[in-house]
Amino acid sequence: MSNSSTITALVHTLRHEAEGIISVELRPWGDTVFAPFEAGSHIDLHLPNGLVRSYSLLNSPSDRGRYVVGILRDRNSRGGSAFVHEQLRVGSQLTLSQPRNNFALDPHASHNVLVAGGIGITPIYCMFRQLLALGKSAELIYCARSRKEAALLEQLGGLDAKVVYHFNDEKGSVPDLARYLADQPRDTHFYCCGPTPMLDAFESTCESLGYPHAHIERFTAAELPPSEDAQDSYSVELKKTGKTLNIEPGLNLLDVLLDAGCDIEYSCREGVCGSCETRVIDGDIDHRDGVLTKAERAANKSMMVCVSGCKSRRLVLDL
Ligand code: FES
Repeated sequence: MSNSSTITALVHTLRHEAEGIISVELRPWGDTVFAPFEAGSHIDLHLPNGLVRSYSLLNSPSDRGRYVVGILRDRNSRGGSAFVHEQLRVGSQLTLSQPRNNFALDPHASHNVLVAGGIGITPIYCMFRQLLALGKSAELIYCARSRKEAALLEQLGGLDAKVVYHFNDEKGSVPDLARYLADQPRDTHFYCCGPTPMLDAFESTCESLGYPHAHIERFTAAELPPSEDAQDSYSVELKKTGKTLNIEPGLNLLDVLLDAGCDIEYSCREGVCGSCETRVIDGDIDHRDGVLTKAERAANKSMMVCVSGCKSRRLVLDL
């Protein structure tokens, strides 16, 4: 269970958005107050079946007192999205995390290209509207398997903005990102949220086109295996407290840190939500999360301690 601060919400509205997708509007329960949020943020739902799942906020940050998430019923659901689709009821109580943003817009970008794949439209829609509201230059590429499985089409159709749609069944193929992303100024900021193969293709396409500003948001566990040179055992020095801990084979770094009394926020335990991000002072991190970008991984400055490990014999954390 998380030690991060949670709040209680009322399930106010459940709405069919597209085939397999519903939106859930949450309002404060009792005297709970919802914190403001930035475009790109997500919240963690603490479901009554014990699972914790992260979902992006799709409504406007200018909304006060409501959070809206869009939830795809995952065909391989391990009990998260299936619970929401089958058992969540209007009027019920739900425990949430505070909003957290791992996918923030860069306010200085001269142009923005947003790419959404399927349910990845939820943070992208919020970000796109925010950019337009601020008078920023932005365009959207929205990909989905089919039109009937694409949420928010009506709302997007009402925006005065450039939106390119790619529906696989109509085009007869998955999107060719190299073609869609070509010929943009090098200082453009690119944002993508979608399924893992699309995010991987997006990152490698931006890299091969020489675009340095590529941002991604994963909404499913990346489940990256340990790298070949990951250490089974290593020592962890805690800079602030001066403690040294030993990670033995099979032990989870987050568990060891919590047992040692470290005050670390955590929620999903799957490398998705970003709450356990910890600053690293020294050591070679074996990143296995879905939060950090390639550039952030290469910087070797922070890690998700719930899933990541170490490739050196010694790791020094800012704890
Ligand atoms: S607890 Fe969610 S990323 Fe670590």
